[in-house]
Amino acid sequence: METKIIKCDPLNFIPEDIEPAALAIKNGGLVAFPTETVYGLGGNGLLPAASKKIYAAKGRPSDNPLILHIADRQMVYALASEVSEKAVKLMEEFWPGPLTLVFKKKDIVPFETTGGLDTVAIRMPSHPAALELIRRSGCPIAAPSANISGRPSPSKASHVVDDLFGRIDHIIDGGETDIGIESTIVDMTGEVPMILRPGYITTAMLREVVGEVDIDPAVKGVDANIRPKAPGMKYTHYAPKGELTIVEGETERVVKKINELVLEKEKEGFRCGVLASAEQYESYDADIVLKVGSRLEPVTISAGLYSVLREFDDLEVQYIFSESFSGEGLGNAIMNRLIKAAGHRVIEVW
Ligand code: TXA
Ligand code: MG
Repeated sequence: METKIIKCDPLNFIPEDIEPAALAIKNGGLVAFPTETVYGLGGNGLLPAASKKIYAAKGRPSDNPLILHIADRQMVYALASEVSEKAVKLMEEFWPGPLTLVFKKKDIVPFETTGGLDTVAIRMPSHPAALELIRRSGCPIAAPSANISGRPSPSKASHVVDDLFGRIDHIIDGGETDIGIESTIVDMTGEVPMILRPGYITTAMLREVVGEVDIDPAVKGVDANIRPKAPGMKYTHYAPKGELTIVEGETERVVKKINELVLEKEKEGFRCGVLASAEQYESYDADIVLKVGSRLEPVTISAGLYSVLREFDDLEVQYIFSESFSGEGLGNAIMNRLIKAAGHRVIEVW
């Protein structure tokens, strides 16, 4: 299949440019598009055949449900059978934006899209290209992250090209995404909203709007045997080819420990890399040191995370040592992804 690339500058956005991509969605095809979180791989979410194509293109297990992307709040009522007052409050506060809400589904939403579940995940993205694509397609767009299953989500169009070129109709290239990690997912089907996947919208932000909010115990990552409520969270995600280890603790000790580990592995003949903050970047002796972002602005770290993980792969790094980015709010979401990428390998040096 020939994949066409559509360039789009979010700051100088030309709505008509999206039309060929919308036409492809209308015809049951697939389009990768930018959102404020990561690139999505979209198809008509009400068309079972389109959902099947998405799973096939990504090599994704078909029990892992897709998120429906909508362009105006009213569309929720066509897809969800129960929309609580709390859900309305969250929609009003955070949509359009990086928040996905899970509702009981209406019959119109096919089981092919929800991985057989009777619930449906819905989000209204804020990126102009995403909104325009949904509006012009005239349907909710089912879109998982536009990566091959098991690879880091794409935060720029070149990542999508690497994974899906030749398998889909269009790629809308809107440059780098702002947030870089996937949306916060909150299950709204119970009395108390429950976070199934942490993201840019933090627990504190949600509590400020709706009061009590639970967190799926599996998200905390303390016990790897607890089955997560978001089916996709159980798969090994985001694993780079090299073995990634996180070193956590007091800054000077972290730097010292990482340099020791690098020296040890380089002596054994391995290719090593360090995943560093802008602040500590200069302190490492490894051949390959990649700057992920600045601790002063955590969103630069989430924005750069998947990109540097992919870069380590491209550079064929065998051992990667990373600083820890633990912290309140967005730090939780960053560490949720990084700890998974590291297969839970964390060394503490307090
Ligand atoms: O930021 C995002 O959410 C991006 C962009 C493209 O919007 N999308 C994304 O989709 O990350 P995906 O498919 O990579 O992740 C969707 C997650 C999976 O973990 C899936 O199991 C969960 O959402 N999910 C979808 N529907 C669900 C449902 N009905 N109940 C519980 N979890 C659900
Ligand atoms: Mg994904």
